[in-house]
Amino acid sequence: EQIEKGGYDHFMLKEIYEQPNAIKDTYRGRLGVKNGIIKMSGIDDNIEKFLNANRIIVVACGTSWHAGLVAEYIFEDLARIPVEVEYASEFRYRNPVITEKDVVIAISQSGETADTLAAIKLAKSKGAFVFGVCNVVGSSIARETHAGAYTHAGPEIGVASTKAFTTQITVLTLIALKLAKETGKINNTDYRYHLQELDLIPQKVVESLKSDSHIQMIADTYKNARNFLYLGRGYNFPVALEGALKLKEISYIHAEGYPAAEMKHGPIALIDEQMPVVVIATKKGHYDKIVSNIQEIKSRKGRIIGVVTEGDTSVKELVDHIIEVPETLESLTPLLTTIPLQLLSYHIAVMLNKNVDQPRNLAKSVTVE
Ligand code: G6P
Repeated sequence: EQIEKGGYDHFMLKEIYEQPNAIKDTYRGRLGVKNGIIKMSGIDDNIEKFLNANRIIVVACGTSWHAGLVAEYIFEDLARIPVEVEYASEFRYRNPVITEKDVVIAISQSGETADTLAAIKLAKSKGAFVFGVCNVVGSSIARETHAGAYTHAGPEIGVASTKAFTTQITVLTLIALKLAKETGKINNTDYRYHLQELDLIPQKVVESLKSDSHIQMIADTYKNARNFLYLGRGYNFPVALEGALKLKEISYIHAEGYPAAEMKHGPIALIDEQMPVVVIATKKGHYDKIVSNIQEIKSRKGRIIGVVTEGDTSVKELVDHIIEVPETLESLTPLLTTIPLQLLSYHIAVMLNKNVDQPRNLAKSVTVE
């Protein structure tokens, strides 16, 4: 097992550090930066299904559901296709309206999650076209779907999902860009710019990982907190949810992810000097609004950890700790802002002596409903 961990203390840490290569493996052979072509046979062979779709319904569970939420932003923003994101377990039991004009995208790392599999079967029985985004080749979901795209992240052993999440977002970004191009909803300059920026992400993830020892210090400061709040807006709202989930899963500290502006309708009541608040405040993406959210937290004495764009000075003055990520397109920020949140939860769990790779009560793949 030590050999399999490749010198890292835990699989989770190894998998966090594998992300630059995993993301590259995900788009290798698909993303043509020079010729401007995105090759994905599962989409190419079924392009009419996507172009004629009334809407896309994403079904997933856990971290994969968070990747689906990021996809909602990117599909609607770039390709202007309406998207609904559903917990598979709710979708399958609530007599959903599904028609032959719907495209369902099922996202699953393991490809074995029982609820997601059942949601796929239901959607198929109503005549929808079902596309899978899976990591495990030949898995049940990969076989049950009409077509799909693998994430090629390599085996993920740590129960808390890390590289599966960022590679799912990568695949979904490729699909969104491809459809945006195909439907003419994106102009060629923007399209080419997105491809170039996506190709720079692995290197920027490497840069983001360099905050590791700084994050370790932040973890040490807050490891005994009883609660954490994670806030983000737009593309980074799902990242806030995912950051909170990571902390809950492996450190057993209660954490909530919230859209920053929604904080005033509830969670703000919890804020005092005992409450660490992680705020994702990258430059593009409602920056001014999030700065005013930070001021609201500060005036209630919350302790703020800001995840910001490299070189940011305004947020720096307001927060207790700052973690920088390189600048990128707003739609690609989740691929970077997720990294420090994974590391923060990892270090807190290690400091609290928790079983990082196999947290209590959780399973890597949930094959029962
Ligand atoms: C379990 C795992 C999570 C995962 C979820 C969905 O809860 O512990 O890490 O996100 O299942 O799994 P899937 O394999 O369908 O992505």
